[in-house]
Amino acid sequence: MDKIKIKGGKQLIGKIYISGAKNAALPLICASLLTDETVTLTNMPMLSDINAMNALLKQLGTQIDAFDDFIDGHKTKTYSYRTPKLTSLVAPYDYVRKMRASYYVLGPLLAREKRVELSLPGGCAIGARPMDIHLSALEQMGAKIEIKNGYVHADAGEGLKGAHIIFRFASVGATCNILMAAVLASGTTKIENAAKEPEIGDLIDLLNEMGAKISGRDSSVLTIEGVKKLHGARHKVISDRIEAGSYAVAAAITRGRIELLNADASTLQTPINVLRKMGVAVEEKENALIVDARNKELTGQDIMTDVYPGFPTDLQAQFLALMLTSKGASMISETIFENRFMHVPELLRMGANINVHGHASAIVRGVDKLYGAPVMATDLRASFALVLAGLAAEGETIVNRVYHLDRGYELLEEKLKGVGADIERIKEPD
Ligand code: EPZ
Repeated sequence: MDKIKIKGGKQLIGKIYISGAKNAALPLICASLLTDETVTLTNMPMLSDINAMNALLKQLGTQIDAFDDFIDGHKTKTYSYRTPKLTSLVAPYDYVRKMRASYYVLGPLLAREKRVELSLPGGCAIGARPMDIHLSALEQMGAKIEIKNGYVHADAGEGLKGAHIIFRFASVGATCNILMAAVLASGTTKIENAAKEPEIGDLIDLLNEMGAKISGRDSSVLTIEGVKKLHGARHKVISDRIEAGSYAVAAAITRGRIELLNADASTLQTPINVLRKMGVAVEEKENALIVDARNKELTGQDIMTDVYPGFPTDLQAQFLALMLTSKGASMISETIFENRFMHVPELLRMGANINVHGHASAIVRGVDKLYGAPVMATDLRASFALVLAGLAAEGETIVNRVYHLDRGYELLEEKLKGVGADIERIKEPD
């Protein structure tokens, strides 16, 4: 298993190009299952989660072509997806176990083929993460759902029917799945308390480009008029707001200055406000964000995660790391997942001062210095928080289990090296 070695203490200065958003790309790939025509996605990030989703779709009968592409002089991927015929309606355990987002095939397969078998994802490092909201909505649309041998067996009989669905919680995954189920259902579906994350807006755009009739984008009430058939489309994936937020913290924690090219400031307003309150200068440009913490003394701020446009849970670990070397105390509250402070014990080993209260909140008190150490984390964002602490720490930090980072941060070492970090990957056999 590869490791990452960081020699900390370098002020990061320069430009980083922000990639296409992983969490937008994953449901977009699955939306291609709704048509027998070609769906082409540009600005795709090169990540192991994308490879895993592609492998699942191939197993279902999708033909995939990959092309190297350049956007504004930066290398990206374009993928074409074509599923003339589904050769399997089963999302097996081995795929879903590796990547929970595999459950995005549920809505499209049920809509197109009226039947699907999906291995239940089960819990993961950050919490239990049940699927009750997805399943109860599909039942309201007429699907018969049975859980047998660890699999969800869903059968929509003659086809899904439009329904008035009120989510008990604004789940990102359930909103995507039910959107994809409803586009080919008979009649109109209304989703109340839908999630409003920008990745959902991107999915709505692609579905409408494919011929769907969805209104209410960016609001918590979505109306979907079912259509008989969808067609192919070509679509550019939005830029990754979590990657941009993560590198914004890299600038701040090293008291450096980074221009985040291809970043969309409109999707990052809450984290940008936190940075500004801490004392970081953030300039919003048309297609970029400039984060400047040179010669700044940063002050800790309280943060509470919430659904969009609240503070993203996917930036909680990185901002907690930033509070470690900021002045004063900060309270970090996690309201989305029940177990998302797994990075704390590792940060303590680097000299941090953090008290976790139950599962939901942590008090961070700023320290003068962090010290490098061997560390490891159990999820993607927590792993990035350890990289950040390593960049700020005195001495050498080895981050183990780099495969977590490879799921969601494209060209991580290259991007950080490009702004002056002393970072390298140590290749090790698995
Ligand atoms: C998406 O996960 C993201 N994943 C997560 O990104 C992100 O943290 C999360 O949304 C919140 O923003 C992808 O987009 C692939 P949810 P998702 O359904 O869809 C509970 C990352 O690091 N819940 O909004 O799984 C659930 O247990 C990741 O990139 C139910 O109880 O998030 C959780 O506590 C990790 N029942 C909360 O809701 C359900 O049926 C939020 O889940 C569904 C969810």
